[in-house]
Amino acid sequence: MKKVMVVFGTRPEAIKMCPLVKELYKNKEFHTIVCLTGQHRQMLYQVMDCFQVTADYNLDIMQKNQTLFDITISILTGMKNILEKERPDLVLVHGDTSTTFATALAAFYMQIPVGHVEAGLRTYDLSAPYPEEFNRQAVGITARYHFAPTDTARQNLLREGKREDTIYVTGNTVIDALQTSIRKDYTHPILEWAKGSRLVLMTVHRRESFGEPMYQIFRGIKRVLDEFEDVKVVYPIHLNPVVRDTANAVFGEHKQIKLIEPLDVLDFHNFMNTAELVLTDSGGIQEEAPSLGKPVLVLRNTTERPEGVAAGTLKLVGTEEERVYQEFRRLLTDRAEYDKMSHASNPYGDGTACRQIVEIIKRTL
Ligand code: UD1
Ligand code: UDP
Repeated sequence: MKKVMVVFGTRPEAIKMCPLVKELYKNKEFHTIVCLTGQHRQMLYQVMDCFQVTADYNLDIMQKNQTLFDITISILTGMKNILEKERPDLVLVHGDTSTTFATALAAFYMQIPVGHVEAGLRTYDLSAPYPEEFNRQAVGITARYHFAPTDTARQNLLREGKREDTIYVTGNTVIDALQTSIRKDYTHPILEWAKGSRLVLMTVHRRESFGEPMYQIFRGIKRVLDEFEDVKVVYPIHLNPVVRDTANAVFGEHKQIKLIEPLDVLDFHNFMNTAELVLTDSGGIQEEAPSLGKPVLVLRNTTERPEGVAAGTLKLVGTEEERVYQEFRRLLTDRAEYDKMSHASNPYGDGTACRQIVEIIKRTL
């Protein structure tokens, strides 16, 4: 029996890996081991509870205001011990976090094959997203399997000289997750608060925006709220204290914005399905929105999700106050622009990514 170890540590990795774990569990020819690094804590356990997946290991490394050094060193040391004990035939990692990088490096040092889920996303700018662009390129060097969500991602990998027979286009596992969460009859007290207004869902958390860019984003949004009384924003704030302090400083007690705790993923998906539009710098949300037909203003200078831009759902807005203000305002006042962006499409797959990945591993490992 082949031993497959699935390793993840942050909220988005959990959302995208739990459906894969469940698919692996269905296959009795695998011994599946789930290992959490615990890079996130509450935000990770929220997802584990939602999907009802339990971990075999948890390095539980999170510290308040942790640095990239803290995360990488703790995971490298912790994974060494677990990999030496379990000696899996394959380690599966996801995306571009420090968990992904440090785990792939540990597996590489132990000469254990790595499967990279959500492989091939690129901006080719090491400063944005930071440090994620480095992480995913570095993992790409070590990977035996590249599970690319789209053909664009596959082309990136081919251009970098990855062997064609190691790249598989499967779609993104986030669509698998999304397909299980949307409810027609969904209600929530906060949605009641927003009833009768235009609901905007927002998240901002990226490291490269800390400081002035994040202040500018928030000030641009606040100006729109001051101008349009019928708009209400829900912002489930990431637990990072840097983000919280900035949001509180700019929005204070503004009556049209609710700064709330991170939502369970099921709630978040249904909030997004109810919202008129989304303001975000999140990666995962850029993939979910096209499927729900929700326009997204991307509060970053680059994106590794060009498929969503091509589909018309995503618009890259950057982080400058004036541009954020203008583009947000425009989407509220220009019906043609809104309609152009609000068509549902599925550039990130049909919800069968997990099944495809498991089949490929079964066939080839
Ligand atoms: C990490 C990833 C980023 C991903 C994001 C998803 C890295 C370098 N960054 O960034 O790619 O987009 O996760 O959300 O891998 N915290 C808590 N509880 C939690 C989670 C975080 O209190 O459950 C606080 C802690 O103070 C922690 C801080 O947030 O130190 C930052 O967490 P960290 O994982 O270092 O960075 P993220 O910004 O979450
Ligand atoms: N999400 C969630 N609760 C929230 C905000 C986001 O469950 O309060 C989900 C969202 O649906 C998406 C993922 O978290 O699947 C995105 O995670 P995040 O923005 O933290 O990371 P990124 O995708 O930018 O790496």
